[in-house]
Amino acid sequence: MIFLRCFWFLFLSCITARINPCSILPFTAPTASDLESSLVRSSLLTLNLDGHFSFDDVHHAASDFGYRYHFLPSAILHPESVSDIAITIKHIFHMGPSSKLTVAARGHGHSLQGQSQAHEGVVINMESLQGPAMRIHAGELPYVDVSGGELWINILHESLKYGFAPKSWTDYLHLTVGGTLSNAGISGQAFRHGPQISNVYQLEIVTGKGEVMNCSDKQNADLFYSVLGGLGQFGIITRARIALEPAPKMVKWIKVLYSNFSRFVKDQEYLISAKNTFDYIEGFVIINRTGLLNNWRSSFNPQDPVQASRFSSDDRTLFCLEMAKNFNPDETDIMNQAVESLLSQLNYIPSTLFLTEVSYLDFLDRVHISEIKLRSKGLWEVPHPWLNLLIPRTRIHKFAEEVFGNILTDTSNGPILIYPVNKSKWDGRTSVVTPEEDIFYLVAFLSSAVPSSKGTNGLEHILTQNKRILDFCETAHLGVKQYLPHYSTQEEWRSHFGPRWEIFVQQKSAYDPLAILAPGQKIFQKAIPFS
Ligand SMILES: Cc1cc2nc3c(=O)[nH]c(=O)nc-3n(C[C@H](O)[C@H](O)[C@H](O)COP(=O)(O)OP(=O)(O)OC[C@H]3O[C@@H](n4cnc5c(N)ncnc54)[C@H](O)[C@@H]3O)c2cc1C
Ligand SMILES: *[C@@H]1O[C@H](CO)[C@@H](O)[C@H](O)[C@H]1NC(C)=O
Ligand SMILES: *[C@@H]1O[C@H](CO)[C@@H](O)[C@H](O)[C@H]1NC(C)=O
Ligand SMILES: *[C@@H]1O[C@H](CO)[C@@H](O)[C@H](O)[C@H]1NC(C)=O
Ligand SMILES: *[C@@H]1O[C@H](CO)[C@@H](O)[C@H](O)[C@H]1NC(C)=O
Repeated sequence: MIFLRCFWFLFLSCITARINPCSILPFTAPTASDLESSLVRSSLLTLNLDGHFSFDDVHHAASDFGYRYHFLPSAILHPESVSDIAITIKHIFHMGPSSKLTVAARGHGHSLQGQSQAHEGVVINMESLQGPAMRIHAGELPYVDVSGGELWINILHESLKYGFAPKSWTDYLHLTVGGTLSNAGISGQAFRHGPQISNVYQLEIVTGKGEVMNCSDKQNADLFYSVLGGLGQFGIITRARIALEPAPKMVKWIKVLYSNFSRFVKDQEYLISAKNTFDYIEGFVIINRTGLLNNWRSSFNPQDPVQASRFSSDDRTLFCLEMAKNFNPDETDIMNQAVESLLSQLNYIPSTLFLTEVSYLDFLDRVHISEIKLRSKGLWEVPHPWLNLLIPRTRIHKFAEEVFGNILTDTSNGPILIYPVNKSKWDGRTSVVTPEEDIFYLVAFLSSAVPSSKGTNGLEHILTQNKRILDFCETAHLGVKQYLPHYSTQEEWRSHFGPRWEIFVQQKSAYDPLAILAPGQKIFQKAIPFS
C-alpha cells in the first residue's frame, strides 16, 4: 500500500491505553499477577540459550504501527538461533494448558491491532534471529534463503548485488518476511506473480510444540500451506526460500486520471489481463480534493505541459491509475513502444498523463521517503485505523457508489488504494481467505488519526466511517473479505473463514494444540478448548 501520497495534517498523539493498570502503578503491594510474572521469569531463566531474555525493557513490544492496542508482555526473547525459539516454545508447551503463557513473534511490529503482541506472554524479537548469511542461488529457478526476521528492504539490497530481486512485493519494504507471509503480501505485482505467499519455495517452522520442521509443497505440505497466510497460528517462520527473478535496472512510472469510475476499472481490468502488459498496476481514489490536485503527481512530468496546465476538475471524485514498466537502459526504445501501445488502449483524461523514470530500487522503496518526512514531523507514530478489503469484481461498482459517493466526504485522512488481481495467481491451499470470484479488488483505506481530535480527522470519526463501510458490505451481501483481518469473537472468525474454518481448526490442533502462538490475532484463546 502506498503510504501517504497526499499531504494531510496530523499531530503527536496520546495513546488509547489498554495496558493492565497493575503494570503501570508504581508503588502497589505485590499482586497475584506480580507473583506469576516472577515465576515466569525464574522459569524462563533456567533455559540454556544462545540469545537472552529481557524482562524490564519490554514497553516497545506493547505497541505497533496501528498505535491503538497496548499489551505489555512478561518477557522479550532475543534469539540468536532457531534452537533458542524451539527451546523456549517447547518449555512453555510442557508447562501444559494450566499456564496462561503465550508467545508472539514480532517481526517489525507493523501490525495494526495488536497482532504481534502477547499480553503477559513472551514476545520473540524476530529481527535479532541470526539466520545463515543470505545466499543467492542463481540457476533456472533462482532463489534466496533468508531468516524469518529479515526485512524485505535488506533482501532487495542483497539480491540486487547479484542482479536478482524477489518478484512480488508490498508497497512498503520495512516489513519482515515472517510478518508479510503470515498475511499474504500484496502490491501492484500481485496480478502477475500472485501475492508474496505464491512466491515461496520452502519454509522452516518452529511449531507450537517446539518442533523444528522444514516444509514445502512436497514435504509437510499441509504445514507449508497452513502457515502461508496463517496469521502466525501454526508456527514461527524461522527461515524462508524466496523466489527471485533477474532484476531490471529502471522503471517507467506513469499516472493518469479518470473521473468516470466505470472507465477506470475497465482499464484496470484490461491491463491485468493484457499481453505484454505493465509490471505493476495499482490505483487510488481522490475525493473532494479539487483544490489540492497537484499532490497526486508530485515529481512526475506531464506528457504535454501546456494541456496539463489547463487541466482543472470540478469532479468531486477522481481515480488515479498508476502503472510501471520495468526496463534496462539498452531497451528504452522497445519499452517506450510497448508503453505507448498500452496507453493507446486506455480511456483516461488525455491532459492528465504524467510520467517519470526511476531506478528499480527507488521505485520499490518509494514509501520509505514518505516515512522519513512524516517521522521528521512526528506524524508517523500516530493511530492508524486502517481498513483493507477484498471485493469481488462484480460488486465493485455498487461498493464504489456507496462508499466513495456517500459514506466518505473526502480523502484527507489518508490514501485509498484500489486495484484488481486475478485469483488464478493465488494458491487455494494457503490459509488466506479471498472472495469467491476470479477477479477481486484490494481496496485499502490507509487512514491516520489525530488522537485528541473530535472532528473528521479524529480516531472516533474514522472508526465510525470504517464501521459504516463494513456494515454496508454486510447488508448489501457484497461477499467482501477483510485483508489483515481483525475480529474479536470466534463466531466472526468462523464466518471469515467460512468453509475453511474446519481445516484451520484441525491444523491448529495439530501444530499448536495449546494455542500458545500469536494470541494477538484473537482467534483462539489458550486454556479454552476450541471447536
Ligand atoms: C506502512 C505500511 C505499509 C504496508 N503495505 C502493505 C502492502 O503493500 N501490502 C501488504 O500486503 N501489506 C502491507 N502492510 C501490512 C503488513 O504486511 C502487515 O502489517 C505485516 O504484518 C507487517 O509485517 P511485520 O513484519 O511488521 O509483522 P508483525 O506486525 O511483527 O507481525 C504480524 C503477524 O505475524 C506474526 N509473525 C511475525 N513474524 C512471524 C514469523 N516469523 N513467523 C510467524 N508469525 C510471525 C505476528 O505474531 C503477527 O501476528 C503494510 C503495513 C505498513 C505499516
Ligand atoms: C531444513 O533444511 C535445511 C536446508 O535446506 C537444513 O539445513 C536443516 O537442517 C533442515 N531442518 C530440519 C529440521 O530438517
Ligand atoms: C462512464 O463511462 C461509461 C463507459 O464508457 C459510459 O457508459 C457512462 O455514460 C460514463 N458515465 C458518465 C457519468 O459519463
Ligand atoms: C485470470 O487468469 C486466468 C488464468 O490465467 C485466465 O484464464 C483468465 O482469463 C484471467 N481473467 C481475467 C479477467 O484476466
Ligand atoms: C468536501 O469537504 C468539505 C470539507 O472537507 C466538506 O465540508 C464538504 O461537505 C465535502 N463535500 C462533499 C460533496 O462531500
